[in-house]
Parts: sequence; C-alpha cells; structure tokens
Amino acid sequence: MSENPHATDEESGLSRKQFIAAVGVGALAVPAVVGAATAGAAASGAPAVDEPLACTPGRTTIAQTEGPYFKPNSPERDDLTAGVSGTRLVVTGHVFNRACQPLSRVLLDFWQADTMGAYDNVRYTLRGHLYTDANGVYRLTTIVPGLYPGRTRHIHVKLQAPGRPQILTTQLYFPGEPRNNTDTIYDPSLLMNVRTVGSGREATFDFVLDVAGTSSPTPTPTPTVTPTGGGGTWRAGTAYSVGDQVTYGGAGYRCLQAHTALAGWEPPNVPALWRRL
Ligand SMILES: [Fe+2]
Repeated sequence: MSENPHATDEESGLSRKQFIAAVGVGALAVPAVVGAATAGAAASGAPAVDEPLACTPGRTTIAQTEGPYFKPNSPERDDLTAGVSGTRLVVTGHVFNRACQPLSRVLLDFWQADTMGAYDNVRYTLRGHLYTDANGVYRLTTIVPGLYPGRTRHIHVKLQAPGRPQILTTQLYFPGEPRNNTDTIYDPSLLMNVRTVGSGREATFDFVLDVAGTSSPTPTPTPTVTPTGGGGTWRAGTAYSVGDQVTYGGAGYRCLQAHTALAGWEPPNVPALWRRL
C-alpha cells in the first residue's frame, strides 16, 4: 500500500483530460479581498515546526506527488463518509489566487485511505470532488485517514481553477503525527489546523493557486483646469464676480453673471451663470 515517493507530479494524459472535463464552465474569480487566511501554505520558506502559514500574497501552495491511487471521474459530493467507519473529519478553508483573493468554482478532487490505510481502487469510496462557493470556500466531510507503510497520515487533493488548464496536485497533513518526521514526502507547509470537536475533528486549510490576482479598475484621470483667477473649487455660498474661474467636477468654468452660489447652482446646472472653459 505504500506509495512510490519517487513518483512525479506528471499525470497521465487521460486522467488530466478527464479532470479538466469535470470542471466545465465556471465562474470567474471573485474580486473581493479576504484578510489573512485561517491557515495556509506557501511555496517556500516552510517552517521547521508544525505550524501552518497564513496566506501570503505571491506564495502559492506547493505541489506534491500524486501517488499511485488517483482515479479520475470521482463523484461530485462534499461528504465521503457514506458506508465508511472512522473518526469524522470536516475540512474547510478557502482557495485563493496569488493575491489572496478568494476563487469561486475551483474544483477540488479529494481521495484518501480508509481508517485501515487502504484505498478503494475499484469503486469511489473516500473519493469525491466539490467546488468552492462564491466566497472561495470549500467544505469536505470525511474521516481521518489511516496509516499505511511508508507514509504519514495524509489526504490527497487536486485543484483546478475554472477556465484554467493548470492542476495543482498536493497533499494535506496532520500536525503532531510521529511519522511527519520520517515521511520524505511530508512538507510542513501543507499542515492543516486540526482540532478535536466532540468525537470528531475539524481541520482548516487555505490553498493559494498560481492564479494572478485581480486589481481594482484604475480610475480614469479626470482632466483638471487650473483657474486663471478668482478661482478655486466651486462652493455654494461663495460670491462670484463676472470673469471668475472655478473648477467643478474636474472641469473649469468662467462666471458669466455675478451671483452668490447656492446648492443646486453647480456650474453644469446653470449655463446662464457659468460657461465651461
Ligand atoms: Fe496516499
């Protein structure tokens, strides 16, 4: 049951094609910025201790070996516990782009061993895919995977942002596992935050995909006209004389009739008083 630690991240052409096909047409990235991630991973600078990292802009979740047990075409479901026994585990978190902005409709395909450390390679027990919601949040209900020779406790996952061919294949780990220190594939940047709740576990992990962030639209510069005299910005209550120049809404105006400005008499509204320069 041990996985080949020398396996590469390369997937077969068939599995990759089918994985992409499962995505379909998704929504675009949600442009809202979320604050610090509850738990996360970074591509480099992984800590030597069992502590997950917060989402750091530009630092993406590292890829890991797929291992020998991935099966394409998993069912879409967010609960893998049907028909299996074990300690209930709920894994939640965000999927972010490089700017730590949440990504909606990201496909996450999970697979893992059962409580005895065995994979179901015939059917789809403990296999399933789901999507992030409009806030970039995913939620998986499963069980704590068992151990098998050569590996520490882990969950496999593939992620794919909508409309993008790139797939991130990686694994999630549990803190405090003795085998974390001897598993050559294990990486501390992929540790989940795990806590015990009742008889089960709750874990969080935020992924950061190598997807460019979206920035706010650049405001169109408004032309400004420097008044030549009597000027400044138009203000209600000001007494203006013929020839005075003001700016309003980024445009310049010349006073045509002496008057004391009132609210509602803004230059664009009263062509009898103001002529645009
Ligand atoms: Fe595995």
